[in-house]
Amino acid sequence: MRFHVLTLFPDMIRNGFQTSITGRAVEKGLLSVNAVNIRDFSVNKHNRVDDYPYGGGAGMVMQAEPVCRAYESVVSGISSEKKPRVLYMTPQGKVFNQRMAEELSGEEELIFLCGHYEGIDERVLEEIVTDEVSIGDYVLTGGELPALVIMDAISRLLDGVLHNGESAEFDSFHDNLLEYPQYSRPEEWRGKKVPAILLSGHHANVEKWRREQSLIRTKERRPDLLEHASLTKEDKKFLAKLEEV
Ligand code: ADE
Repeated sequence: MRFHVLTLFPDMIRNGFQTSITGRAVEKGLLSVNAVNIRDFSVNKHNRVDDYPYGGGAGMVMQAEPVCRAYESVVSGISSEKKPRVLYMTPQGKVFNQRMAEELSGEEELIFLCGHYEGIDERVLEEIVTDEVSIGDYVLTGGELPALVIMDAISRLLDGVLHNGESAEFDSFHDNLLEYPQYSRPEEWRGKKVPAILLSGHHANVEKWRREQSLIRTKERRPDLLEHASLTKEDKKFLAKLEEV
């Protein structure tokens, strides 16, 4: 997977991505991040990329031409026939979720467009953007953090990025259930014991307990997810029993 990020703050993207698991994946050659500075494509002798909004109003607007040239520089370096999707980070977009991460993880190349100031000239958005994406109902100062969030969520789904191949599958939101609680050594910490069943060595019972914990958590914390989870007959029976208590 190759990520390209059109941004006024390329260091933010590079620094954010080169640590931890995503950084290791880059070193392993499983993915790459190409942070492109939109300012390098300024058409103005002062290197400006923004101007006042037509019609007046507060703030500045990022101009169409530098954004478009930054985009074209990326596309011209891509050999494939298929034009890559361009994800514009905006609170007006479709709210990002795990399903979108899964769908996007199938792409070979993705271009992220990060805005700043009061936004980007609409005309270039109409020309190049294929998807408008939000990471939630709040307003950030720019699209860099959203782009990092989305790249992180996609990266961990790619083959070889996580060490334990199972962990992506069993994490929260896989199949719309929250993850069961986890425990590690010591067996007793400040008077709190690890649930005995996890020490029993009885694999089937452990699995059953974990499934039930997932169901309990999801019902308590995110009942909206349960409607979309694929539940077995046993799951449904267990949930019905919870209702009785
Ligand atoms: N830019 C500013 N706020 C944002 C958000 N919530 N999601 C995506 N991009 C943004």
